[in-house]
Amino acid sequence: MLLVSFCFMVFFSCNHVQGSSPAMFVFGDCSSDVGNNNYLHTTDKCDFPPYGIDYPGGVANGRCNNGKNVADFLADKLGIASPEPYLSLMETRKTHKFLQGVNFASSGAGILSSTYEGLCISMDTQIDYYSSVFEALVEKMDISQTQWLISRSIFMINIGSVDILVYNGTSSSNYVSLLISTLEGQLKRIYDLGARKFVFMGIEPVGCWPALRAMNKSNGDCNIEANQLSFLFNEQAAVLLQKMQSEFADMNYSFFDSYRELNNYINYPKTYGFKEAKAACCGMGFLKAEIPCNPLSSYCSNRTEYVFWDNWRQTEATAKLLVSTAFDGSPPNVFPVNVKQLSGFCSEINAHVVPFVAQ
Ligand SMILES: *[C@@H]1O[C@H](CO)[C@@H](O)[C@H](O)[C@H]1NC(C)=O
Ligand SMILES: *[C@@H]1O[C@H](CO)[C@@H](O)[C@H](O)[C@H]1NC(C)=O
Ligand SMILES: *[C@@H]1O[C@H](CO)[C@@H](O)[C@H](O)[C@H]1NC(C)=O
Ligand SMILES: *[C@@H]1O[C@H](CO)[C@@H](O)[C@H](O)[C@H]1NC(C)=O
Repeated sequence: MLLVSFCFMVFFSCNHVQGSSPAMFVFGDCSSDVGNNNYLHTTDKCDFPPYGIDYPGGVANGRCNNGKNVADFLADKLGIASPEPYLSLMETRKTHKFLQGVNFASSGAGILSSTYEGLCISMDTQIDYYSSVFEALVEKMDISQTQWLISRSIFMINIGSVDILVYNGTSSSNYVSLLISTLEGQLKRIYDLGARKFVFMGIEPVGCWPALRAMNKSNGDCNIEANQLSFLFNEQAAVLLQKMQSEFADMNYSFFDSYRELNNYINYPKTYGFKEAKAACCGMGFLKAEIPCNPLSSYCSNRTEYVFWDNWRQTEATAKLLVSTAFDGSPPNVFPVNVKQLSGFCSEINAHVVPFVAQ
């Protein structure tokens, strides 16, 4: 059944914008983790209530907010199922599902392997896992079928915020340069393993995360230095993607400026349907962000009114709004194309129906 439906999508790939990307592969941190950290020995888990309270079924599942996250909403927009966590597919031996995409994201992960070392799956390790998925697909199909599938799939990259969060040095420009040069090697590795359509979710104004506001006891204002780092990182990441596209003629990308977008929610909450843009919904202490969300902490009754769910993470409502702009929005918030345009973009081979040899 799976193979049949895959061929079907291939056939219609140029006529329908929705559904034109057969699969999605997700690399990132807590914003897009759908349960990988459940399989790790780490303190950075979201597998207890009230996490997941608004997810269908209302049960904690490893997603680090109250419901669906940005990876889930992007999959919805693409008309595909949200890819399952890599470690879950491995544990349950459902490797046939690799054809539908895989989510490698891990809460706490950063570009640098030293970020939250030992507590998460670093970006480098996420790419190692993707490399083994690629090999498994080649074995299941063959190299040209695999390249065909992969080159049409969406590669969502959502990484860097935690590197900014843990920064404690004195030379922010050197730090951003290190992040960007490391990221360049990582994106090239993913490209070398067949990826052609990148969705880069820039990082948010990390300084406005409730955890950082709460450290500013007197006023609860945003941490300006962390915001400057976030802004600088996004600026240089956008330049990097543009450079890569000019280097690799068959690569395309959509850059989503989460900083600009989320900053609007923070500065004009009412315009976007929010009532609270500073405090977390779930947690304890000043701005509910001094002690992270846990089974004993109180949480807000109406989650759609809050921008932030816990000391770091967006609510489901925020994730949904972010993705709607990434998918349908226009410059300067998303450029040079939005995700809808990126996923509908057809190259010359799309006109053919590639024969599919089931094994
Ligand atoms: C910065 O953080 C690193 C890693 O957590 C730590 O080893 C180092 O001592 C810290 N430096 C300062 C100046 O606090
Ligand atoms: C505290 O808030 C002020 C602005 O009100 C800001 O300049 C400063 O960076 C903040 N400090 C910290 C540690 O977040
Ligand atoms: C894809 O990238 C090529 C150059 O690498 C560019 O000519 C083309 O317009 C891009 N298409 C989209 C939809 O971004
Ligand atoms: C939650 O808040 C939103 C926005 O203020 C409002 O439209 C909605 O009716 C509220 N839902 C409940 C169940 O109170």
